Amino acid sequence: MAFTIAIDGPAAAGKGTVSRAVAAHFGFAHLDTGLLYRATGRRTLDGTDPVEAARALRASDLEADDLRTPDVAQAASRVAAIPQVREALVDFQRAFARRAGGAVLDGRDIGTVICPEAEVKLFVTASDEVRAGRRFRELQENGFDTTLDEVLDDLRVRDARDSARAAAPLKPAGDAITLDTSDMSIEQAVAAAVEAVAARL
Ligand code: C5P
Repeated sequence: MAFTIAIDGPAAAGKGTVSRAVAAHFGFAHLDTGLLYRATGRRTLDGTDPVEAARALRASDLEADDLRTPDVAQAASRVAAIPQVREALVDFQRAFARRAGGAVLDGRDIGTVICPEAEVKLFVTASDEVRAGRRFRELQENGFDTTLDEVLDDLRVRDARDSARAAAPLKPAGDAITLDTSDMSIEQAVAAAVEAVAARL
C-alpha cells in the first residue's frame, strides 16, 4: 500500500527533523527533496547549465557531503525557480512517493504540486528568528564561520525567492495541517506530527 506524507515549509523550520522522526516511527522511507535542488545547485557553481545538471542528476549525487553549505543553499534556491529544472525532478519524486510501504517527502511543493493526493499534508513553520537561531547553531556545530545576522538574511532571501517564484512557490496546500514549531521542543513537534499522521492511517 502506498501512503504518502507531504511535509512542506520554509527553510530551517524543523521539516527535516520532523520528517525523519515520522518516517522512523511509521517505518516509512524518507526523501529530503531539498537535496535534489542542492545537488543541482552545487553543479551550477562550476558553470554547468542548471537544466542539464537537473536532467543528469543521479540518486547517488544526493549523498555528497558538501550539500549543506550556505553557498549551495542559495544556488539551490536560484535553480529551483527555473521551471525546466523542477520538471526534470518530478518523476523521481513521484516514483519515490508511490513506493510500497509508505513514504515521507519534505520540501516546498510536495503537498501542492508533487503529491497533491498525499494522504497527510503538514506545513511546518516557525518564526524567522527561531529558524535562524536553529540553523546558526547547526552551522556552528559543523564548523562554519558565520553570524546569526548572516544566517537570518540568508533564510529571508531564500524564503522570499521561494515564495515569490511563479513555478511551484512555497505555500501551504489548502488541506495542509500547519504546525508552528516556534515554541515547541523537537520532541513536542515530532509528537504533534506523529499524532496528525496516526489520525489518518
Ligand atoms: O530544504 P532545503 O533548505 O534543503 O532546500 C534548498 C532549496 O531548494 C530551497 O530554498 C528551495 O529553493 C528549493 N526547494 C524547492 N522545492 C522543494 C525542496 C527544496 O524549491 N521541494
